[in-house]
Amino acid sequence: MSNIGSYEERVKDFSWEISEKELEYKKGDVINIGEYCTDRVCKMGKGDKPALIWQGHSGEVKTYTFDRMRVLTDTIAQYLKDKKINPGAPICLFMDKIPELYFSFLGILKMGGICQPLFSAFGAESLFTRLEDAGTKAIFTQKKHVGKIRKIIADLPHLEHIIVVDHDGRKPLRERECAFSMEKAEAVEDFEIYPTYAETPSVLHYTSGTTGKPKGALHVHYSLISQYITAKYVLDLTEEDIYWCTADPGWVTGTSYGIIGPWANGVTQCVLDAGFRAAGWYKFIEDHGVTAWYSAPTAIRSLMREGKELVQQHNLSTLRHLCSVGEPLNAEAVLWSTEAYGLTFHDTFWQTETGSIMISNYPGMKSKPGSMGKPFPGISAAVLDLETYEPKQEAGVVGLIAIKPGWPSMFREYWNNEEVYNSKFKNGWYICGDRASIDEDGYFWFVGRDDDVINTGGHLVGPFEIESALLEHEAVAESAVVGKPDPVNMEVVKAFIALKPGYEPSAGLELKIMNHIRKKLSPLAMPQEIEFLDKLPKTRSGKIMRRLLRAKEWGEEIGDTSTLEDE
Ligand code: WT7
Repeated sequence: MSNIGSYEERVKDFSWEISEKELEYKKGDVINIGEYCTDRVCKMGKGDKPALIWQGHSGEVKTYTFDRMRVLTDTIAQYLKDKKINPGAPICLFMDKIPELYFSFLGILKMGGICQPLFSAFGAESLFTRLEDAGTKAIFTQKKHVGKIRKIIADLPHLEHIIVVDHDGRKPLRERECAFSMEKAEAVEDFEIYPTYAETPSVLHYTSGTTGKPKGALHVHYSLISQYITAKYVLDLTEEDIYWCTADPGWVTGTSYGIIGPWANGVTQCVLDAGFRAAGWYKFIEDHGVTAWYSAPTAIRSLMREGKELVQQHNLSTLRHLCSVGEPLNAEAVLWSTEAYGLTFHDTFWQTETGSIMISNYPGMKSKPGSMGKPFPGISAAVLDLETYEPKQEAGVVGLIAIKPGWPSMFREYWNNEEVYNSKFKNGWYICGDRASIDEDGYFWFVGRDDDVINTGGHLVGPFEIESALLEHEAVAESAVVGKPDPVNMEVVKAFIALKPGYEPSAGLELKIMNHIRKKLSPLAMPQEIEFLDKLPKTRSGKIMRRLLRAKEWGEEIGDTSTLEDE
């Protein structure tokens, strides 16, 4: 039996107060996500229940109860306080999916800091852009990643503390670096949690747009109200579940539903700190008895490639509810999962900015393979006319996905970027930047993004950031970066490049440029293909026509290019 019961019934009587009541929160009260995920769960008598079952890449397993998690997060919070880091300071997490990552997240929130998680595969330049923009005060990292910080520290005067969580004393620490082991530090049992309120900033997630630098979407502690109830109704988490969210907390799925939502529900979570391997994933599910699973279409397509035989070699009978996010979940993948696992993947749609699931297929609701489902109860979603921003009344017409502002987990600002924040609202709606249509039964069907942002395996990468980094390569005169279709990752990065005089296209140069981006930005941003052109197509005013190049990759008719000219 699902938590949500009948969707139609739930929509009728839903209000966010249901969530507030379950969390025993009253308007004006103190609300701290760190406390809700640890102390409160312990107070409800679940202190001895496993909170985290963690498995490393060499197979070692560590289990932490809610009570142990409470103490470790208190210990981290106290450490930050002792360092005189003030509440409200942005503190970055730059670590692999090790237990310290999860517990530092909650420890930071407990001392009132703003948690800024960044993907540990980021190179020095991606890291620098985000630390500089946020004015980050401290960063948690591992010795394997500290080299990237050393490269950029000279230009980050505000970064006062580099906290290395696994320092073994072998190599000396440098300026501003300090060693801290949460397990070896003296345990703190009763940290006085900083009294954060509904509108106190909590998490800062960077996300890429078409133009300009990545933007920091700032969330507040009140987001818990949305994250708790969506984890319960959409992911269908219950007391007995063993839940696995495959996302990295460097991205919003890994925090909203890889930390906050499930733990606020007192649910046991599993984490696998290892790369993707189909057999490894199935074994993980089998070994830990995973019941609820939240993953992404790219992973599902990769599993499809490995076939059903591999599924049959494992006992996956504990699984009972599967959800997906990040990219369009093709009908084919939904049907395959139904055959292979006897369970259907439920698509969910949301964004860094929305903080929690907006549109989805609910357990107990008739799902239409290929559709994203319906708005969460309490969410008012529409498809707007591309020009007038008026909601479309007719079924099947494509427009802009938009949400009525006011849901608890809505981002409150882009860090230091009011102008871009304001540009996201039109006619009283928050504009997601995606296109969809709604059918006669109220189901949303995703069409595509409304901008040039590339979605590779569920990760957004901004063409502008890559183009800027390409220009830093000595051979590159001009570049345009677009998404190119890919059977597994949906899109991969493709770069069109015009070389400077004196440079000739060659396979060797191509590799060098690819590597340049991989190291500077990340493996995700690295072009999988480079096409050298004598010159790039431009509008009369000199703007590179990215869209023309993209259309070519997708085999789309673009017709009269003069219409594209000065957009
Ligand atoms: C963008 C948001 C919060 C989830 C992780 C990504 C795309 C997300 C779906 C879906 C089609 C989807 C959209 C959206 N997207 N879910 N179910 N079907 N597209 O968060 O990095 O902020 O990306 O991901 O384009 O705008 P994000």
